[in-house]
Parts: sequence; C-alpha cells; structure tokens
Amino acid sequence: MARLQAIRGMNDILPDQTALWQHLEDSFRATVDSFGYREIRFPLIEQTRLFRRSIGEVTDIVEKEMYSFEDSGGDHISLRPEGTAGCVRAAEQHGLLYNRQQRLWYQGAMFRRERPQKGRYRQFHQFGVEAFGMAGPDIDAEVIELSAAYWRRLGLGGKLKLELNNIGSAEDRKRYGGALGEYLLSRADEIDAAARSRIHSNPFRVLDSKHPGTRKVADEAPAMAEYLSPESVAHYAALKELLRAAGIRHIENPSLVRGLDYYNYCVFEWTTDALGAQGAVCGGGRYDGLVAQLGGRPTPAAGFAIGIERLALLLETLDRIPPEAQFRADVCLVVLGPATTVAQELARRLREAFPARSVVCQCGGGKYAQQVKRAYDLRADVLVVMEAGEGGPPAEVKLRSLDERFEPRMVTRDQCVAAVGELLSLSPPARQDL
Ligand code: HAM
Repeated sequence: MARLQAIRGMNDILPDQTALWQHLEDSFRATVDSFGYREIRFPLIEQTRLFRRSIGEVTDIVEKEMYSFEDSGGDHISLRPEGTAGCVRAAEQHGLLYNRQQRLWYQGAMFRRERPQKGRYRQFHQFGVEAFGMAGPDIDAEVIELSAAYWRRLGLGGKLKLELNNIGSAEDRKRYGGALGEYLLSRADEIDAAARSRIHSNPFRVLDSKHPGTRKVADEAPAMAEYLSPESVAHYAALKELLRAAGIRHIENPSLVRGLDYYNYCVFEWTTDALGAQGAVCGGGRYDGLVAQLGGRPTPAAGFAIGIERLALLLETLDRIPPEAQFRADVCLVVLGPATTVAQELARRLREAFPARSVVCQCGGGKYAQQVKRAYDLRADVLVVMEAGEGGPPAEVKLRSLDERFEPRMVTRDQCVAAVGELLSLSPPARQDL
C-alpha cells in the first residue's frame, strides 16, 4: 500500500516547531491578559447556514472554500473557515452579549479549501479577539493597540505595516454599491468574467481584483470616500487620532475591502513584504451589524484574527526566533552501566527540586558517545554522568556541559541537586519563568 500522506494543504506541526508555536501562544495569552480579554472556546463545526449568513453568500469563502457536508442525520454542517461567526453564535446563545460589554479571545484551527502555497493552507490556525457592546472608535483603537503590543512582545515592532480603510456604514455601502455597480456595468467589457458576474451581487469584491484589466477599471472607479456619511467620517477620523496618540503609524489603503461581508466603518490589515504573495498576517475591523443579522439584539462589535502559520514564517524569515522559542532540556542524565534505579531516583529528586525545569534521564543504555549525542539532540544544558561498575552505583557523579560553559566537576550524589541548582542559575531561565 502506498505510504499515507496528510491531506494537501494540511500541515503537521513537528516537535522542532512546537516550541516556537508555544512561544507564540504564551506571548499572545500574556498580551490579551494584559488587556483584560477572556478566552472563549467554540466548536470546529457549525451549521453551514451560520457561515453563509455571516461571511456572505457572494464571497470566495462561502462560494468555493468551505468544507461542507451533510452528516448521517441529514444536517448541513461545515468546518469553521474563521472564528468570528462561531464566537458571535456562542456569545449570543449563552446570553453573554445581553446588556454587557465583552472582551473575548480564541485560538484554533480554521479550514478553507484554497489553493495551497507558501503561507496559504487548507487547515491553518488563528488567534482572534472580538470585543462586543462598545460603539465608539476607542475600542477599534484598543484592538489595534493590542495587536501592536503583541508584535512588540515578539520583537516585530516596526516590521509590520498597518493598512486602514473606511468602508462606511451599511447605508453608505448600499449607496456606494449602487453607484459602483453602475460604473462597472458601463465598463463591463474591460473586466474579467469572474468580476463581471459579481457586478450585481457584490461589486465591492471587484475592487481588490488582481486581474490587470479589472485592476485598471477598479483603480478608476468612483471612490468610497465620496459616499461616506458624516458619522462614518467622524468615527474614522477619531480612530486615526487615537492611533496617533498611541504612536501607531498607519497607511491608508482605499482598495482594502476584506474578503468577508460583515464589516463596516474601519477595516484594517497588518501586512509584510517578507512573505511574498501571502503578506497579510492579521486582519480585522468593526462589524456592528452581525449580531443582529444572526438573530441577536443590535450589538456593536470589533475584532481581528492573526494567521499563526504566517507569523511563525515571518519570525523565521526575519531570523527573530528567540532562544526560549527553541526546545532544550535543562538537565540530561547519562547512565552508564547498571545504575537505572539510582539514576531514576536522582532524576526524580532533580524534578522535585526544580519543577519548572526539564530533566531527561536516558533510558535504554548505550555507549557514552551515543548518549552524549542524544544529549546534543536535546540541546541539554547540564549533563549528569553516572557510571556504575561492578561495585554498584557510584558515590559520585560528573557534571559537565556540552559547550564548555563550565569546568567539568565531580560531586557526590547527595551534593548533586545543590550543584545542579547552581549551574542552572547560570543558564537561561525556564520557559515557565519567562
Ligand atoms: P481573515 O482576513 O480572513 O479574517 O483571516 C485573518 C488572518 O488569517 C489572515 O490575515 C491570515 O494571516 C490568516 N489566514 C487566512 N486564510 C489563511 C490560509 N488559507 N492559510 C493561512 N493563513 C490564513 C478573518 O478570519 C476574520 N474572522 C477576522 C476578524 C475577527 N474580523 C473581526 N474579527
């Protein structure tokens, strides 16, 4: 039988990468905690109509990218292509939005059947935040500031560009959509067939087309700015002022329309040139109509999601992976000869003394050189070498490093815990202590 492979576009995250993922997760959790956001977890699968109604019928995601199927009970269900819809459904279903503000965050796998390429996968992972019940531009500014604080924590300050656009209120968009549709109809023979088919159903999507002919027509289209209500203009201006006060620079991108239909007022993306075509690391904005559209009371909302794979790729590409985001064992016991019981007992004492440190006790024996090689693979900090001969377990063990950071020394088994403690205090802190 041919060797089984993962489904195209769905990646295994291997042990060499998981330390980086844990670093991204720990840093995100620390960032959202510092802004007072609380975690929510909701299912990977929802009714298909939840996504159709929220993301929009005429979007790439709903038209061609969802993993949708009928289960054995005849229910139409889909793997979640994004988190906002499920988060709103869960918060609304459990009464979290009733007369209250909520600051929520989540993380997890999302699924879109896109054409896989670097930075674009069929199963990918997001961190997201959603804030409910706050209508002013201060919450837009807060979620953007939270994302900026996360970049800084990761050492990416200044490495990502913030792009902003004002896409207006629902009424502004209706008026602008009408005018845009008429304009596109007048130049229909210059644009590609896919764009033409969307003139009536979703003319906004034509604005971020990459097709050269369509691009030219889109660039010459009437500007959204001319159709914005005074409220939309004021909200956007106030947001920009708050960002200026927070020291967060942005550029305005009038063709930023986002691929999901639920947005209004301000939308934004954090982008980079370092990842090629898939340069959007984070996207979000305000979506005041969605809660009511899904059956709840009108509730203002804003949020964003970050693509974790793209973020990991960016740190790798920019060589910004800190030492604590790479796995290493703190202590490795090399066990030579028949000393298993005593070695495991010493390992146990070390783990009890240093609960935040990793202590690997080699199993299965092997020659000294073999065991030292395994210690290299574990990037061990302190080696404890225990050699038992005919006379039983040794009174002393040898402590050494793999990089001559300290002089090798012999200590009695009783002194070992204290001596290892001293050596560990010279080495980088444990992950849990960062
Ligand atoms: P989105 O722009 O569709 O927004 O996705 C957010 C981020 O997820 C993107 O910027 C990108 O980094 C990552 N991403 C999207 N698709 C893929 C893919 N196929 N492979 C790898 N990474 C991908 C949303 O999902 C909205 N729910 C964001 C939001 C939350 N808006 C308001 N609240």
